[in-house]
Amino acid sequence: MARQGTENTLKINIAIDGPAGAGKSTIARFVAKELSYIYVDTGAMYRAVTWFMLKHQIEPEFSEKVLQHTQNMVIELIPGEQGQKVLVNGEDVTSFIRSQEVSGMVSRYAQIEGLRTHLVGLQRQMALRKGVVMDGRDIGTTVLPDAEVKIFMTATVEERALRRFKELRDQEGLTLEQLEKDIAERDRLDEGREISPLRCADDAIIVDTTHMDITQVVNTIVSYCITHRDGENH
Ligand code: DC
Repeated sequence: MARQGTENTLKINIAIDGPAGAGKSTIARFVAKELSYIYVDTGAMYRAVTWFMLKHQIEPEFSEKVLQHTQNMVIELIPGEQGQKVLVNGEDVTSFIRSQEVSGMVSRYAQIEGLRTHLVGLQRQMALRKGVVMDGRDIGTTVLPDAEVKIFMTATVEERALRRFKELRDQEGLTLEQLEKDIAERDRLDEGREISPLRCADDAIIVDTTHMDITQVVNTIVSYCITHRDGENH
């Protein structure tokens, strides 16, 4: 998918938000690769915290304790050919953070105000030098309100559940119906929380991926980014 103009040295930041399972991480990874940018999966940071808290049996109700542990945690996102690796205090937790257990609890930890403030601070630092494609729920609205390009990616609940189902097919006892329920519940929590709810930024472009394949979505976003970046240069 090499494209003319991807070599420009001026860097911009790209925010990609949207509900669970809309394809944000796959797309964001490809977009980052095309532009030779750094991909930051902020959901993985909330998942890493959740994994840690579940392991240490710290319930989301004990927000002070959650915060205290989070502030002492070292979360590393390491880009690699096989996708991004996630380390917590040096331990590779990449596969653990995608478990149903973590997916089922992450929205509850993600509602904790102090935890969000802490992670948002880390995310902003990662984007300081520009050239970052960051995906999440509140990137265009809260984390990087000045991002040069903002995308809000969405798809129907049914389509999103189907995609997750294909991805997680090997997990025992998993049904499409259950996934649909889980995703609808996660939407409800992500959209309904008081702090930084999932919301489309006023200046974001909405990309409905229900009937689009990965290449179409990547091409649409990369073209938009290049046009925008080259416009900034003049
Ligand atoms: O994108 P994901 O499914 O890996 O995200 C996991 C959870 O983290 C999701 O339920 C919402 C939360 N999240 C968030 O609140 N803010 C972000 N910027 C990213 C994720």
